[in-house]
Amino acid sequence: MKFKNGLLVIAAAAVIGVSSVAKAKNVRVGVVLPYTGGAAQFGQQIDRGMSLYLSLHGDQLGGHQIELIKRDSKRPGGDIAKTAVQELITREKVDLLTGFVFSPNAMASAPLVTQGKVPMVIMNAGTAWIPNLSPYIARVSFTMWQAGVPMGEYAKNTLNCTSAASGYTDYPPGKDSVAAFKFGFEGAGGKVVDAIPMGGPREVPDFTPFFQRVKDAKPDCFYVFVPAGNHASAVVKTFSDLDMAGAGIRLIGPGDITQDTKLQGMGDSAVGMVTVHHYSADYETPENQTFVAAWKAAYGADTTPDFMGVAGYDGMAAIVQVIRELDGNISADATMDILKGWKFDSPRGPIMIDPETRDIVQDQHVHEVVKSGGRLKIKVLSSISQVKDPCKANQLGKCASN
Ligand code: PHB
Repeated sequence: MKFKNGLLVIAAAAVIGVSSVAKAKNVRVGVVLPYTGGAAQFGQQIDRGMSLYLSLHGDQLGGHQIELIKRDSKRPGGDIAKTAVQELITREKVDLLTGFVFSPNAMASAPLVTQGKVPMVIMNAGTAWIPNLSPYIARVSFTMWQAGVPMGEYAKNTLNCTSAASGYTDYPPGKDSVAAFKFGFEGAGGKVVDAIPMGGPREVPDFTPFFQRVKDAKPDCFYVFVPAGNHASAVVKTFSDLDMAGAGIRLIGPGDITQDTKLQGMGDSAVGMVTVHHYSADYETPENQTFVAAWKAAYGADTTPDFMGVAGYDGMAAIVQVIRELDGNISADATMDILKGWKFDSPRGPIMIDPETRDIVQDQHVHEVVKSGGRLKIKVLSSISQVKDPCKANQLGKCASN
């Protein structure tokens, strides 16, 4: 690590490839992730996913080299990431950009990506309309609507909840997630009786007053979006401390609140939670079992990938494909042509980048937290095949402008 122009710079970490190939190109990829602070656990997941893909498949670069130029976005606010992207484009002259855990960081960087004509592969940030902000953005992670809408439908149709409250971290993906839940739940005939903003993404708030308000309202279901991590652990703890299950309320949400890396620490009060998501390390497919075994071999038997790790892995697969197909000569338009319609057999299942929206198409699964063999586990209750982003499919709000 060194300091450069007042910015924390983590030096290029990976140069992989066969340097003796005659016309080998050095492709420079700017990686913008939180490497320090409370969200560093997310940066580490994605970074590990990217590195794992390169260590297993770096020989697929067509003889070229990939250089990862890493910058620490630190916080969700947008400003630090934007400065980093500016520097990566103008001074480091990167060919591609990737990373981006928090939606505001991707949103603030979008105009720079358009002006600089540098393609951006988003590995997390989930607000549905982000790809509409630039023709040079493609997303390999998820959209808040892909989980929110099916969760709303399942809550009404299968969990038999007729009323629900929602609580959300008060920034774009939180607002997006509860809008998606409402769309699915009310579309199926339920009624959302309250939607409660519960602090910001940077600090974990005391959830007690918000959860008490829900307990007093006594809805059948309580849908919660928080940006995973320590927020998710606190959600489950508060729900348990207030004995909301005892009051007949069901805790549901997108899989961010049952993140694999946090699940074991949540304790038995997580048992019975139902979430909808596109990944769990517990999936029993051969592709996922191979991936999880490789992860544990690389990073330790007590580690696990989660939905952020798999996005780092898949995003790097997309970048490697671009480098190989373009023979190392990266241009923004040619990159987007390859990413549009890109298909991959991910550990999460088959994925594709929708050529129309440049957003991910993937299966969604209803997850239940169960206890088995002394550990908490994700059991898949049902699945929906190849879900396109419902916000863009229905041309809703800011999703309509594509
Ligand atoms: C986001 O900021 O878009 C975000 C962050 C963490 C999540 C989901 C979405 O778990």
